[in-house]
Amino acid sequence: MDAVATTSFIHAFEPGTDANRTPLLLLHGTGGDERDLLPLGRMVAPGAALLSPRGQVLEGSMPRFFRRLSEGVFDEDDLRRRTHELADFIKDISRQYGLAAPVAVGFSNGANIAASLLLLRPEVLAGAALLRAMSPFAKPPRADLTGKRVQLLSGAFDPIVPADDAERLATTLASNGAAVDHRTVPTGHGLSQADIGLLKTWLDKA
Ligand code: MLT
Repeated sequence: MDAVATTSFIHAFEPGTDANRTPLLLLHGTGGDERDLLPLGRMVAPGAALLSPRGQVLEGSMPRFFRRLSEGVFDEDDLRRRTHELADFIKDISRQYGLAAPVAVGFSNGANIAASLLLLRPEVLAGAALLRAMSPFAKPPRADLTGKRVQLLSGAFDPIVPADDAERLATTLASNGAAVDHRTVPTGHGLSQADIGLLKTWLDKA
């Protein structure tokens, strides 16, 4: 696995060894990079192809997938633009690597852009696991999410994502036709063993 720059996103790619596994699109949190979620991906979906881009926005020295105005307040114009850029990258690179549409596994900022991908460019994803996501848009666009599986894992003591915000995202996605599995685990914004177990079980059903 090497970090390479192509189609404008630095990314890591690990080819799959199990053809029955849906590829994973790994989207890191603020301050992470393309290597962060590879161990998680290998753990929850052994044998799946792993595609992991690095967010192109820098907040100080911390990579992110889109700009924010303050904690939890997003620059929605930038979010829209970055979502389309990421969707175009996923399409191009999937063709290049011969990948089927991936399931996104996003954490925090990565989960928020994954939610935005579902709402703006649902055709590029087979589904998404959103770990500590919040509603990306104040007024979410309509999208046809029929047939998309979504897992939303929230933290009961998350100081960044209010419970009603995560609930609003679950409702938005379900009202657009997604099959949403929303669970709240007894932890904060960071991931716990409970998240890993729930994610693995959900992915095994794909
Ligand atoms: C975001 O900005 O996407 C959320 O506040 C999560 C974070 O990255 O802290």
